[in-house]
Amino acid sequence: MSVHTEIKKVTTHILLEMKRRGEKISMLTAYDFSTARILDDAGIDVLLVGDSASNVMAGHETTLPITLNEMIYHAASVVRAVKRALVIVDLPFGSYQGNSKEALNSAIRIMKEAGAHAVKLEGGREVCDSISRILSAGVPVMGHLGLTPQSIYKFGTYVVRAKEEAEAQRLIEDAKLLEETGCFAIVLEKIPATLATKVAKHVKIPIIGIGAGNGVDGQVLVLHDMLGINKEFNPRFLRRYADLYEVIHHATENYIKDVKNRDFPNEKEQY
Ligand code: KIV
Repeated sequence: MSVHTEIKKVTTHILLEMKRRGEKISMLTAYDFSTARILDDAGIDVLLVGDSASNVMAGHETTLPITLNEMIYHAASVVRAVKRALVIVDLPFGSYQGNSKEALNSAIRIMKEAGAHAVKLEGGREVCDSISRILSAGVPVMGHLGLTPQSIYKFGTYVVRAKEEAEAQRLIEDAKLLEETGCFAIVLEKIPATLATKVAKHVKIPIIGIGAGNGVDGQVLVLHDMLGINKEFNPRFLRRYADLYEVIHHATENYIKDVKNRDFPNEKEQY
């Protein structure tokens, strides 16, 4: 007799229910098969194949250079690992802005070639046409407001957004518009906690924060930052849950020593 335990997959509807009953949503970025498997086994609700892959995987200074093909490669690797989590994939810079037909084609490629469950894109009123067109094909869309890294050359800096009343008001309006347009959730990045809490109260869809305080419906961090692989990035909002830089560095030093000393491999480690 085989014992078959059904895994209940996380869906966009489940995220909505979680918000309704006040259960916080956990989200992390993932870019490869092996790590995604660990995160999924640990019970993460949502995996975001973020365009932060451009920084932490490819070593670019910004998220702008990563291509749609590269995002699809990362996303397909993550999807192959996952049994339970919802997998959301960032539409990269240049694949959706200002042309809703191109946005739809990009989203369809991500869903079809990577097997993703939803897409995320940055911006408010200026991307609503693209969002509507993607939704018309049945693809769920997550929004992203506040500090939107694809616009770094417009902002000029990665400092906290929407501290001034006019920008805060525009952000609230954009969040409502994204909800009306049909987004199933929104990421709010690096904005004052009071503003993020207000937005989370004003909309019915889940608000996932990064550097947006504790009054939102869930949290997301970039995996390499929270695991301490990235030593250089130290924003106030980041909590490090491990020091993998040290763990990997130390293990590598020991390996080099063992090879140089002819200690590895020993008799038991050979055929
Ligand atoms: O690309 C990314 O990792 C993101 C998160 C910071 C939300 O968009």
